Amino acid sequence: MQELKLGLIGAGGIAQSYAQAMEDCDCARIVAVADVRPEAAQAMAEGLGARSFESAEEMGDSVELDAVLVCTPPATHPEICLHFLGRKVHVLCEKPLAIDSRSARFMLESARKAGVKLVMASKFRYAEDVIRAKSIMTSGILGEISLFENAFTSRVDMSTRWNSNPTVSGGGVLIDNGTHSVDLMRYFLGPLSDLQVWEGKRSQGLPVEETVRIFVRSVSGVIGSIDLSWTINKELDSYLNIYGSHGTVCVGWKESKYRQSSSREWVVFGGGYNKLQAFRNQIRNFCGALRGEEQLLTTSEDALASVEAIEAAYDALRQTHWTAVNHASA
Ligand SMILES: NC(=O)c1ccc[n+]([C@@H]2O[C@H](COP(=O)([O-])OP(=O)(O)OC[C@H]3O[C@@H](n4cnc5c(N)ncnc54)[C@H](O)[C@@H]3O)[C@@H](O)[C@H]2O)c1
Repeated sequence: MQELKLGLIGAGGIAQSYAQAMEDCDCARIVAVADVRPEAAQAMAEGLGARSFESAEEMGDSVELDAVLVCTPPATHPEICLHFLGRKVHVLCEKPLAIDSRSARFMLESARKAGVKLVMASKFRYAEDVIRAKSIMTSGILGEISLFENAFTSRVDMSTRWNSNPTVSGGGVLIDNGTHSVDLMRYFLGPLSDLQVWEGKRSQGLPVEETVRIFVRSVSGVIGSIDLSWTINKELDSYLNIYGSHGTVCVGWKESKYRQSSSREWVVFGGGYNKLQAFRNQIRNFCGALRGEEQLLTTSEDALASVEAIEAAYDALRQTHWTAVNHASA
């Protein structure tokens, strides 16, 4: 099998995860790295035996690539992706695909016209325990899904990162962690129909939301809640609980398990979340799809649906109606 030649754009945090995950990957090799910080591109390229560039355009002009991995901050995604789609190069873009649905639609249309694949990275769909949880729910042993709960909460100081600059990030924790959440919810429940969002206290003094609670309803009528925070850690063992009419499945950081209502015993089916394994599965699926050997687990339509759900969530955040508590005066 000939390795696919990949270009990596953005040599920051998440790019390191891709580089690590691909260390023992025989389907593709990173042959070029581009970053507006040339020293970062160079350092990563050296470690990979790849060429380095100061811009995505320069990389595109200089190297024959099968596909690119876009690992730059969100607001830069459309321009970079469109550049490569225009060159008929396949694109795996980090989440969120774009910070607005208009750009995302334009990107999908450009990929369609170019006849190449545009995929948004969505690592949780590739996590072994999530895949097993999905097949447990699909098997019907826990009945029909009645309620979905997800939480991604941990204390992270975002005050000096682009994540808290809305022009670059598109918003706060809602678009950052929430993009994973809405995709996970769609994976289990299908299309989403409507949602409500409440914002918690801003303790870090950021210009964007740090803590939100989202209520979502799927087209199939199932409701779910999602808690997201950069400020608090809910200290939960599981990030995903799905309640069926005949039992519950919990997908955890260190262990995943399910229990049928008819049984007192929990059945452990997974050893928890392994980030590199999820990234490896994602890259393998992307490369397999480029070779025409397998179907993409997440399509460009999934990416657009996530962007649309997050856009709706920001609309909801601006509109959510609170009812005042009337205190009778003494
Ligand atoms: N899947 C996940 O779990 C996950 C986790 C973290 C971040 N992300 C996503 O990955 C992307 C990058 O996040 P990060 O945490 O790695 O950020 P980062 O700041 O660590 O790295 C981003 C890199 O992109 C470079 N860059 C910025 N603009 C550029 C441009 N126009 N051309 C070339 N290089 C450019 C920066 O210099 C920097 O080195 C974001 O979209 C983020 O949402 C995903």
